[in-house]
Amino acid sequence: MPSTTNERACAAAASQPMIEARGIHKTFGRVPVLRNVSLTVGQGEVVALIGPSGSGKSTFLRCLNHLETIDRGFIAIEGEALAQTDAAGNCTYVSEAEVRRICRKTGMVFQHFNLFPHLTVLENLIEAPMVVRGMARDEAIARAEVLLDKVGLRAKRDNYPARLSGGQKQRVAIARALAMEPDIMLFDEPTSALDPELTGEVLRTMRALAQERMTMLVVTHEMGFAREVAHTVAFMDQGELLETRPAAEFFGSPGHERSRAFLNHML
Ligand SMILES: Nc1ncnc2c1ncn2[C@@H]1O[C@H](COP(=O)(O)OP(=O)(O)OP(=O)(O)O)[C@@H](O)[C@H]1O
Ligand SMILES: [Mg+2]
Repeated sequence: MPSTTNERACAAAASQPMIEARGIHKTFGRVPVLRNVSLTVGQGEVVALIGPSGSGKSTFLRCLNHLETIDRGFIAIEGEALAQTDAAGNCTYVSEAEVRRICRKTGMVFQHFNLFPHLTVLENLIEAPMVVRGMARDEAIARAEVLLDKVGLRAKRDNYPARLSGGQKQRVAIARALAMEPDIMLFDEPTSALDPELTGEVLRTMRALAQERMTMLVVTHEMGFAREVAHTVAFMDQGELLETRPAAEFFGSPGHERSRAFLNHML
C-alpha cells in the first residue's frame, strides 16, 4: 500500500483515470471562460481546485457533469468519452441517454445545498434513487438511513430543510448525492455559504469520504482542507489551469507566480 501523499497521488494517476479532461475550451458569448484546460483525476484521488473568483472553477466542474457544454476538447469519465472534438474542431457529445448514464457516475454538491424544500430530509434522499434508478421504496429508505447515520443526521430524517442549520443542510446534500452511489464526487465550494462555526462539520464529513477512498474534485477556498486532505492541488486563473501538483509541493513552493500571489492572499 502506498503510504505517503505523494505515493498515493502517483498510484492514483497510474490506474485508469476517473476523470480525464483534455484541452477544454468554453466561451460565454464572446468571453473565453475556459482556455485549454486539462486535468486528470485518478481513482481515490482528492483534487482541490483553487483559484481567484471568476477564474472558471465552477464552469469547469459543471462541464464535467454536463450542466454546461464545452465548445472544444475531450471529456471521459471512467474511460468513457462524454464529449470529443475532431481534427476540424467540431465537438460532439455522445447520445443523450449515454450522457445521462455516464454523468450518473458523478455526484455533485453545490454551495447553496439545492435541497428540495418541499421534501423532508429522508424524502430528499430517496427521491432520485426511486425515480431515476427505479429502486424500491423500502430499499431506498434503508440505504438513506445508513447514509444519514454516516453524516450524523439520522435524528433529522423527518425534518424539512428549512428547519436545519446550513451545516446540516450541506451534510444532507452530501448524503443525497451519495444515495445515487456515485464513483466520483464533485464539490463546488461546499462550505463557503456557511458560518465559520459550521464549516468544520461539513469538512469532517468530506474528510471521512476521502478516507474511504472516494474520488473527489473539490472547488474550495479552504486552504487548510486542501493542504490536509487533498493529494493534488490544481490552480486556475483567468480560465487557465496553470499548475497541477501534489498538495505538499504546491503549498511548499507554488510553481507559478500567480499561484504564489493567490496563496499569499489566502493564507
Ligand atoms: N451562465 C453564464 N453566462 C455568462 N457568463 C458566465 C456564466 N457562468 C459564469 N460566467 C462567467 O464565467 C467566468 C467564470 O465563472 P465561474 O463561475 O466558473 O468562476 P469561479 O472560478 O467558479 O468563481 P467563484 O470563485 O467566484 O465561484 C466569470 O467571468 C463568470 O462571470
Ligand atoms: Mg464558483
